[in-house]
Amino acid sequence: MKKSMHEIRKIFINFFINKNHVFIKSSSLIPYNDPTLLFTNAGMNQFKEIFLGNYKNFNFKKVVTSQRCIRVGGRHNDLNNIGNDEYHNTFFEMLGNFSFGSYFKKESILYAWELLTNKNLFNLNPDKLLVTVYYKDVQSYNIWIKNIGISKKNILKIYDNKKLNISSNFWQMGDTGPCGPCTEIYYNYKNENNISLINNEYLKKNCLEIWNIVFIQFNKLSNGKLLKLDKPLVDTGMGLERITSVLQNVKSNYKTNIFKLIIQEIKNLFIKLTLNKKFLYIISDHIRSCIFLIYDGILPSNEGRGYILRHIIRRCIQQGYIIKYYKPFLYKLVIPVINVIKLLHPYLIKKNIYIKKIIKKEEKKFIKTLGYGLKILNKKLKNINNKKLDGKIAFNLYDTFGFPLDLTLNICNNLGISIDNKEYEKQMLKQKKKSRNNKFKLKYSNNIIPSSIFIGYYKNKCKTKINYIIVNNKFKKKICNGEKCIIFLDKTPFYAESGGQIGDSGYLKNKNFFFEVQDTQKYSKSIGHIGILKVGTIIINDNCIANINIKRRHNICINHSSTHLLKKSLKKILNSNIKQKGSLIKENYFNFDFNYKKNISDKDLYNIELLLNNYIKKKINVNIYYKKKKFIKFKKKLFIYNYKNNNNIRLINIENIFQEFCCGTHIKNTKEIGIFIIKSKIKKSKNIYRIKAITEKYAINYIIKKKNNMNKILKKLKIDDNKLDSKIKLILKNNKKYKKKIKEIQKLNIKNEINLIKYKSKNINNYKIIISKVDINYKFYKRIINYIKNKLNYTIIFLIFNNKNNYFLIIYVNECIKEKINSKIILNKFYEEYKNIFLKNKNFVNKDGIFLKKNNLNLNKIKNFILKKII
Ligand code: ALA
Repeated sequence: MKKSMHEIRKIFINFFINKNHVFIKSSSLIPYNDPTLLFTNAGMNQFKEIFLGNYKNFNFKKVVTSQRCIRVGGRHNDLNNIGNDEYHNTFFEMLGNFSFGSYFKKESILYAWELLTNKNLFNLNPDKLLVTVYYKDVQSYNIWIKNIGISKKNILKIYDNKKLNISSNFWQMGDTGPCGPCTEIYYNYKNENNISLINNEYLKKNCLEIWNIVFIQFNKLSNGKLLKLDKPLVDTGMGLERITSVLQNVKSNYKTNIFKLIIQEIKNLFIKLTLNKKFLYIISDHIRSCIFLIYDGILPSNEGRGYILRHIIRRCIQQGYIIKYYKPFLYKLVIPVINVIKLLHPYLIKKNIYIKKIIKKEEKKFIKTLGYGLKILNKKLKNINNKKLDGKIAFNLYDTFGFPLDLTLNICNNLGISIDNKEYEKQMLKQKKKSRNNKFKLKYSNNIIPSSIFIGYYKNKCKTKINYIIVNNKFKKKICNGEKCIIFLDKTPFYAESGGQIGDSGYLKNKNFFFEVQDTQKYSKSIGHIGILKVGTIIINDNCIANINIKRRHNICINHSSTHLLKKSLKKILNSNIKQKGSLIKENYFNFDFNYKKNISDKDLYNIELLLNNYIKKKINVNIYYKKKKFIKFKKKLFIYNYKNNNNIRLINIENIFQEFCCGTHIKNTKEIGIFIIKSKIKKSKNIYRIKAITEKYAINYIIKKKNNMNKILKKLKIDDNKLDSKIKLILKNNKKYKKKIKEIQKLNIKNEINLIKYKSKNINNYKIIISKVDINYKFYKRIINYIKNKLNYTIIFLIFNNKNNYFLIIYVNECIKEKINSKIILNKFYEEYKNIFLKNKNFVNKDGIFLKKNNLNLNKIKNFILKKII
């Protein structure tokens, strides 16, 4: 009988217990005190410090574990394999045996072989097992040959990949940390008794890696150097799901007993729908990851681990959308799936309701956003006239609403509409480049750096101390001139971006260094100063002075107080129920998003501007108050929490106008705003508007520039202000008229050209051929070609169109003779002869044609060449 996943795990653990190993429970998916790792991604993570020799009181020399692992994000990332292959999972259990200074290469290889091949254990046919070793690891190679007796044909040496400067048989936990050569065991699915040659390709195509035995010998440092460790250490890893697939002989993790049951639960949920393999694999994989991530304390959020969880949940909902299921469903799988895996993970049961609740909440939230996206897409699709959706729209849907390309493609396909993929890819690349440049997103939500003391409400500068330095997600003790990093201080006057207000800039300095702070961000409760060391060296614990850019901060304060005044004005002029839906407060402008059901007229905007400028004129004091929490009657505790400062609630109070929670920085009197101008109003989505506004010197500059531009226009039109409206109307009317006329002329031209072309056609070798220059802009080539193709039935068309500085050559060959001669052959021959007149090399073809230089083109010569040499 086939062994279940649970039995297989038991056999593994007991085998090593019998070899005097101590069983240690799986650690959490959140690596303990290790900022270099996003998730536990291997069995050895929890022993990292022991491997590195930093923890001396560990009494066990031989250990066996079955470790929960997630491989999403970071060095080991399998997310994109899910749904596309049979053997990857984002969550899996890694079975492993470890030696901390006890046995080394020989025993570990012997143990693995015994467990895999012994009749009473895994009972695999030794002939089906192939092995790889690191090419420099002669010792392991000899053990396989001499002690195990494996045939030389079944063992492959793996060399360094020259490009990556690393071998797949040199295992590393992350970019830094324990690492070393490894030997891997593969199961050969091909029924071949006599393998003549195994190579990488053979392994990839026919075999499954089932066990990796790593001989940890080095600690890789952040500068890439390998530091030799003094003890022989062994770290092994075997995916429980994979070995189960082999022992159950099902050739897929997704067909093992556990996954079969999970997939059945999914099918039960969508009883009326036909579900494809991709859907079933993604959902069955991702639901397990979600359950374990939430069990280990992660909640969906916008950064670090929480972001990954959010991403995984969203991928599931997107799959739902693809099969036209628009409601939350993942949460319904939580309890059934926990029931399936409870024998393996009994501890999950006590948290099942909680996990379900978290997933449901996240699903609901995302479905609301997707709903918006869907509405926008449908609207765009209704107005489409060329059966092609702009790639930019598809990308924006993805970027703003998390609408995946797959989903957009699916909806478009059903309507016979295609997507401009090139544009989509272009936008995606642009976005990736942007986020690559953003090195200052810490990839972990840290609890390591203690909270920072913020003194920036009262002071613009202070004496302080450098507590932590982080470069590319790694802690550093020292940085030198020119390096970019995040610095954490003892106390700071720098305001970290929050509540819509952007972070402060400024500098940190002492007699040895000058560090330019370009931005300030919050990382958990600590304040990170992001910037570049312009002069000197910074060493941890250095004392220094922190100084913010006061002018910039003052502009930000002006805009922050104005945001509150704008909210108040909107309530007065439009509707008292208006609620803030977001804001961005910078030094040169601010955005304010709010809900409003009706249209906003120009008159409304005028009244809002007027009211706000009146508040400025009245020179009203802006005060900050702190109230004890117990005196606040508001019920939304969570909301209040954000505005808490030492158990007090912070309030901004603009005398006689309003009072609101706020943690931002403000001016002292409304007169500091000087002047307020609304620059634009846009409708962001249904019932949500965004007002962009400017104040003080930015508003004054804006008005002056506008006035100057207006004067220029009036001067050009030779009219006064009061005639502008009627003049523009007249211009637009005439414009329309001329456009119509131009179109008519163009049509006539095209017709004439076609007649001319017809006249020039020839019959040569039974081919009806046109070789001609067309005296018309190449923009119209499609119309001409289509006409000739459809109506005149030519076999070969060779047309040269006029463009501004060059020609555009089009070669068209009718379907019926494509077998004998095609446009590529013609182009090649033509290119060989006329290389020098091609603007780019011949492989560059713009849609249907190619550009030629205008200067040296002798049409008669070309014509002769084509007639004689090509046809
Ligand atoms: N740590 C090794 C791996 O993950 C065993 O493959």
